[in-house]
Amino acid sequence: MTDKVKLAGVIGQPIAHSRSPQLHGHWLKKYGISGHYIPMDVAQSDLKTVLETLPKMGFQGVNVTLPHKEAVLELADSVTDRAALIGAANTLTFTADGRIQADNTDGVGFLANIRDYVPEWSAKSGPCVVFGAGGASRAIIAALSQAGAPVIRVTNRTRARSDALKDHFGAKIEVIDWVQAGNVLGDASLLVNTTSLGMQGKSALRVPLDGLRPETVVTDIVYTPLETELLRTAKAIGCRTVDGLGMLLHQAAPGFERWFGTAPEVDMELRKAVLAS
Ligand code: ATR
Repeated sequence: MTDKVKLAGVIGQPIAHSRSPQLHGHWLKKYGISGHYIPMDVAQSDLKTVLETLPKMGFQGVNVTLPHKEAVLELADSVTDRAALIGAANTLTFTADGRIQADNTDGVGFLANIRDYVPEWSAKSGPCVVFGAGGASRAIIAALSQAGAPVIRVTNRTRARSDALKDHFGAKIEVIDWVQAGNVLGDASLLVNTTSLGMQGKSALRVPLDGLRPETVVTDIVYTPLETELLRTAKAIGCRTVDGLGMLLHQAAPGFERWFGTAPEVDMELRKAVLAS
């Protein structure tokens, strides 16, 4: 063997549910790369030690999932502008001298997924409505804002979290009371659900959608089920809909390219492999 086997993985707790190993595993096989992608259950109290050790063990980098996405920013040697803006990282790359670079690819993954299904949609084309104000919402708002959305309406059960997003992202953000969520959809260019509502085993999303018009692109970050009630209703109204699986696939691509040296394709074959896992 002349080539060094490259290692990458995902750290989180819990980690068993992560689809990232199947996703990266599919690409490693497809491109004939001699490498491994390993799920690692890491406690918060061990995070620092683990990040000091992984580069010494031959890891090129790791994805980061809950609950470590914010904490890794403090431990990184450099942080990209978008990760700093979002306040969280999902992709770490270890440089040859063991330094840690932190990035966040959730927002670009979100936009790439929409581009796949509705290439003519532009963030500049009108108001965007975002349900939810958690970590995923922050990444999506940052991406929409950078892509030129004129107005981003944020509505969340806990209003204080939407207010905090307005403080952070500024004038483009309009905070809407959760009970008013159904009343601000009429002129939306995009509606995205970033809450866990509608996910298998979680409560239903009960926002009234009769104000939605066919011109609005509707997407959900929930991908279990692939077609959520929100997407089904939107489709019946005549909206173009985009399911949440593509965001997961696209957010993974930049890390894979950095660690394994090949820009991977997000295609139907990959979707099938991840869905079957
Ligand atoms: P993530 O980082 O994946 O976005 P999170 O930070 O826990 O996860 O955010 C989950 C989102 O789903 C939040 O917007 C949350 O609303 P709150 O801020 O009020 O908690 C939303 N959510 C979860 N369960 C909900 C429910 N039953 N009704 C309304 N919103 C809910």
